[in-house]
This record gives sequence, structure tokens and C-alpha cells, in this order.
Amino acid sequence: MAVGLLQRLGFPTGQVAKIVDGHHPDQLHTGSATPKADMLPIDGEDGQGATCRRNVVVAVSGNELDTELVTLACNVAKQKKAAIYVVYGIEVPRKLAIDAEMPDETNAAGEAIERAAQVADQMHLRIVPEIVQSRHFGQSLVDETKAHECALLIVGLPYQSGLGGHFDLGETADYALKNANCRVWLVREDDASNEAPPRVTAFTATCPHLGCTIQLGSTGREFVCPCHRAAFALDGAPASDGEKGEKSHAPRGMDALECRVAQDAAGDWWVEVAYEKFEPGLTSKVRKA
Ligand code: FES
Repeated sequence: MAVGLLQRLGFPTGQVAKIVDGHHPDQLHTGSATPKADMLPIDGEDGQGATCRRNVVVAVSGNELDTELVTLACNVAKQKKAAIYVVYGIEVPRKLAIDAEMPDETNAAGEAIERAAQVADQMHLRIVPEIVQSRHFGQSLVDETKAHECALLIVGLPYQSGLGGHFDLGETADYALKNANCRVWLVREDDASNEAPPRVTAFTATCPHLGCTIQLGSTGREFVCPCHRAAFALDGAPASDGEKGEKSHAPRGMDALECRVAQDAAGDWWVEVAYEKFEPGLTSKVRKA
């Protein structure tokens, strides 16, 4: 099912915007010749044939990376005389109808497409804009590459950390990599967090109960003192032993130490800690004389 969206935004008729539920409508057409596989992203020599894939799809999302993506697409397309399809995806939550009006998202899409058109214009190229409203943008992107006989799909990735601090590829890029039958170029954003010092809290390992040495628990999710089983959360707050129902022996949380994060000329971070001792057995933190 496809419903015009660009017209809502005042784009000239004839340009494509659609709402897709399932596969691209063009994919329902049968009988076309199987495209030749390209060994290069776009085969300029054999690209004259009607069945050779030569076009470029670039996914935009409205962030700063779009300029880079569209510029990249234009550079490739210019050399190979390819068409550039700029696609903005609006994912519709299951609780809404697939063709539900989503004005904020649609306006954001219009702005992103407009900016993409301006970037292309500066390079004396025209784009084919598309706003696709669907349940799954990754699937829609893959369908677009097939429908427009594309040799190349360009997808941008904001830098994002998943659980455990590992880079999170995200659903759209992951789906495109697994399912697109053309080249996929991923352009990942810089890790902006590299420029900001990491936030660090340092605690003394001396137990505020009677002064034994606190250790990291076997689960890695708490600190424990082996002497009288005082437990502490990772933020140093005292935690009772819930399983055994015992009240914590710790009269206060772990004692935080003053610390500073510094960076050397090579860009490596380290932590400088001002070590101090505090009186055990008190409910408040009192520096030892
Ligand atoms: S010394 Fe740590 S719990 Fe008693």
C-alpha cells in the first residue's frame, strides 16, 4: 500500500513518497530479467544495459551525518551517471494504522529531504526524494534498492553504545547488511564522547564498619566486605543482604575519594585519586587525623 506524503509537504507531483506495509509494490511485478551481479559498487562499463543495477539509495535521518552521506552518494553517482534516491523512513508503531498521519515525523522528513536536495544541488545533481512510512525501515530500504535497481545502499550510523559499552549497530543497518542484495556502505559517526572526559567515582576499599578490605562481588554488580558480609551497591550505597534478610553491618556507604580524570598527549585517560582514611564505625564520614 502506498500513500503520497511528499504531496502533503508541497513537493511536485511525480516524486515518490509511499507507505509500505510489507514488500515494495514493484517487487510484486514478475517477469523482469534477473539483474547482473556487480563486482564493483556500480559498473560503469556495463551499466548501459537495462538490467544492470547502477543507482544509489542513501538513507537520511535528519542528523548532521546526512550531508556527508548525500555528498558521498553524489560523488559516486556523478562518476557513474546513476540516479540518487534519498530515502527518509518513518517507522509506525504497531498501535497506529500504517497510514496514520504523523505530522511531526512527516515535517522532520520533509526538512531532511530538503537539506539533502540542497546538498545535491550544490554538486549540480538532482535527487529523487522518498519518504517511506512503514513498520520496519530496514526492510523498506532493502525493498527500495531492489525496486530502483540500485548497486549501492549508503546508510549512516550515529555513534551509540549498547550494553557493555560495545558499539550498537542498530536494527536498520543490521537488517540492511543481512538482506540487501547490493553493496552496503556504512558511514559511522565519530565517537563524540571521546572528546569529553569520562565520569569516574573512586571509593576507598576500606570498609566503613571495622576497616576490612572491600572486594568486588562475584556477580560484578556489588561490592562486598568478607569480614561481616556488608554489601554495597556499585554507587557505594549500603545494601542489605536481601536473601538472608540480614541488616547490613555497614554504618554508612563506601567512602568516596576525591579524584580527577586527566588525558595525556596520546589521548589516553587516567584517574588521579587523593587517597585518605576515614574513621570506621561512624554513621558519617570523618577524616582520620
Ligand atoms: S569490617 Fe566490613 S563488614 Fe565488618
